[in-house]
Amino acid sequence: MIAACCRGRGIGLSNRLPWVLEGDMRLFQRLTVGDGRNAVLMGKKTWLSLPQESRPLPKRTNFVLTSGYECHGARTVRSVSEAVSHTEAFDKTWVIGGGEIYRAFLDHAALEKIYLTHIDADFEFDTQFPQIPKDFICIRSDRQDPECENGLEYWLEVYARNTSPSLEARPRDQQSTDCPK
Ligand SMILES: NC(=O)c1ccc[n+]([C@@H]2O[C@H](COP(=O)([O-])OP(=O)(O)OC[C@H]3O[C@@H](n4cnc5c(N)ncnc54)[C@H](OP(=O)(O)O)[C@@H]3O)[C@@H](O)[C@H]2O)c1
Repeated sequence: MIAACCRGRGIGLSNRLPWVLEGDMRLFQRLTVGDGRNAVLMGKKTWLSLPQESRPLPKRTNFVLTSGYECHGARTVRSVSEAVSHTEAFDKTWVIGGGEIYRAFLDHAALEKIYLTHIDADFEFDTQFPQIPKDFICIRSDRQDPECENGLEYWLEVYARNTSPSLEARPRDQQSTDCPK
């Protein structure tokens, strides 16, 4: 899963991104394209939010979750389970949003990692990234060495599902998803 959010976990406004951050877009391209054998999975609204000339996203097999909309250049799936079974053959499948799709996948056992760019600024938003579940822990934070673009500071954090018995044995309210500062 990959997303970028501002303060308050905002991710979108009026079916677009509230900000322009080319460095973060380059990171998105690099990670999701990978070795060229990856898939991306998105909701219909995110598909429609892409500029027409940019869809399908190149060098990736595009999957769109929809109850019936036809997306030229993408493969459509009608449920989370259909999405998971159709993407098993790919090296990696990146869940790329938006809000409904993040919510649908956050608790799914197939989700291994979350790449979340934090933008240290306030933007108006109408779509939010959900709370990260307690069984995910932060395994990387670039907070101490943020990028800066257009006066905006942002950094990457990576969360992974923790399966170690020591964490699982701890009461849920003593677990933390906070990254090391
Ligand atoms: N900051 C970021 O990293 C980031 C990334 C991506 C998107 N965004 C933003 O997020 C916003 C869009 O998010 P959103 O939550 O409004 O929409 P979305 O998640 O992109 O798409 C929602 C649509 O997906 C389909 N869908 C959802 N769950 C489904 C399920 N279980 N089975 C089948 N189809 C399902 C439905 O389409 P049908 O109506 O056809 O059934 C639904 O209307 C935009 O503002 C976009 O710019 C931000």
